[in-house]
Order: sequence, then C-alpha cells, then structure tokens
Amino acid sequence: MSDIKIHTPVMLREVLDNLNLKPGDTIVDATLGTAGHSLAILERILPGGGLIGIDRDGASLAVARERLGVFESACKLIHGNFVDIDMLLGNLGVKSVDGILFDLGISSFQLFDASRGFSFQGDGPLDMRMDKDSYISAYDLVNNLNEEELSTLLWNFGEERWHNRIARLIVQEREKEPITTTLQLADIVTRSIPSRYRHRHYRIHPATRTFQAVRIAVNRELEILETAVNKAIVILEKKARICFISFHSLEDRVIKFAFRKAQEQGLINIITPKPLTSSAAEVEANPASRSSKLRVAERV
Ligand SMILES: C[S@@+](CC[C@H](N)C(=O)[O-])C[C@H]1O[C@@H](n2cnc3c(N)ncnc32)[C@H](O)[C@@H]1O
Repeated sequence: MSDIKIHTPVMLREVLDNLNLKPGDTIVDATLGTAGHSLAILERILPGGGLIGIDRDGASLAVARERLGVFESACKLIHGNFVDIDMLLGNLGVKSVDGILFDLGISSFQLFDASRGFSFQGDGPLDMRMDKDSYISAYDLVNNLNEEELSTLLWNFGEERWHNRIARLIVQEREKEPITTTLQLADIVTRSIPSRYRHRHYRIHPATRTFQAVRIAVNRELEILETAVNKAIVILEKKARICFISFHSLEDRVIKFAFRKAQEQGLINIITPKPLTSSAAEVEANPASRSSKLRVAERV
C-alpha cells in the first residue's frame, strides 16, 4: 500500500454525529472507497454491529479490505453499483438497516492514480471508468460522440460555459488523430477557451468542468442517483438516518428534490433543510472538501 494515495474522509465528524450510531447497528457504506468513513463507523457500532460496504471499483475494495484488517469479520464487502442496493442487500438476506452513507464521486485513491485517467494533473489513458468491467470509457465518448452530443454533454454534466467551442475543437483535433490521453484532452480544452480566461488566477483549471462532465457521463452518475435515493430510503428502519455527501450542484439538486418528494410522501423527515458544509478548518486541512454538501434525512 506504500505508493498509493489513501482518501481522507470528508465531513467525518458531521457524518458520525448525524448517523446516530450505537453498538449493534447495521450500517451500509454505499460508497466504501478506501474505508475512511467505515473505519470510524465501525468503532461506534462494535461490539455487535455490522458494516456492509459497497463499491463499484474493485481496486478500491481491495484497499478497503486490507485497511479494515481486524474488523473484517464484522464487514460484508460487495463489488457492485449502489443503484442495485435493494438487490445487493437482498442477496445477503438483509431487509432493513440502521443507517446508510453515500459519499458520492471519486476518491483521491482513484484521482491520483494516473492510469485510471480521471485527472489532468498527470498523463494517463482516457479511461475514467470507476468499474473496470463496464464497457464505455472516456475514450469512446470523446472520440465517437458528434459535436452536438459532446456540446450537450459538457453543458448538462459540467455546466461548462465554453461547451460549444470545446466540442468543436475536440471534433477538429480527433480528425487528425484519436484523442487517447488525459493531457491531450486537457490541452484541447485549454486551447478552446479564449486566452483571457486561461490564466492561473482563475480558481480552477480550465479542464475541470470537462473532466467532471465526461466522468459523470462515463459512469452514468446522475442517471442512477434518484433511483438510488428512493431505494435506499425504504431500506431504513424507523428513525434510521441516511446521509448524502455530494460535490457539485447537479448531484445536490437531485438529492434535494428526491428528499422533498419522499418527505411529502410521509417516508422521511429532512434533518438538514439546508445542506451542511465543511468547516473552514477542514477545507484548510483538506482542500478537496471545499465543495462538499451533506444532506441528512430520517426514516419516519
Ligand atoms: C468519494 S469516494 C468515497 C470515499 C470513502 N468515503 C472513504 O472515506 O474512503 C466515492 C467512492 O464511491 C464509489 N462509487 C461511486 N459511484 C458508485 C456507485 N454508483 N456504486 C458503487 N460505488 C460507487 C467510487 O468508486 C469511490 O470509491
């Protein structure tokens, strides 16, 4: 485990406080990652409790299994997509649980491994699949969608202001040679943007929104989210809590509206009318937490 990057769990204290954990609870970590949240959850639910960890990324699961070490006998780790949470728990004979955490997006473990193709900070293949068994990669989308489809994708999943210009240059460049690497794509995006907007004093790298949009499309992250929220809510025991951490407004909006609808149907009470955000101290210690939003609801 020496040269891999372990993810720092975001809003850990807020998650632990809001899940109302006690010894004996059965908790689902639907986005296990490298088990940062899960390790802390286990300390509060043992003795007697159990953790069910789900991740669609086999490499993350392997690291999590190793980190969980002595706790492993209290854990069931599943390689799967959280949109199938009902079926995955059903396979274990579990009908209801005492709390569920979703910490959306990707982890530093995935982001900083250049071979996964999630980042424009290092060169790697244009991949971005969280689950290596899925068929469509970033390469497939970037090299095969037509200009209009690319432009729509960049707007819908990245709210990228320069979506038309970026889509146009991608299509022009790939006529010369396929776009195969992260740095090739980042360079095309940077060149698409008017020069006065490329400068360092802008808060984020010009390719940030494009990479977010392509990643969301590759992994169908937004399509599955509402279904996952609805399925997870009905698995909760009475008074059990569900926590969602999201990192961009598109995800947060889906959760906000799904929670509202479930509350109107009398299924949950929303505990956080406004989402909680990371403290200034956390953002300073872990800048990756700067855009996190935590929404919590309790089963009626
Ligand atoms: C932000 S990380 C979670 C980090 C974790 N809380 C920790 O402390 O290490 C998100 C994780 O969720 C996984 N993931 C994202 N979407 C998923 C999905 N639909 N089903 C299962 N896992 C998913 C990713 O592979 C990634 O490992």
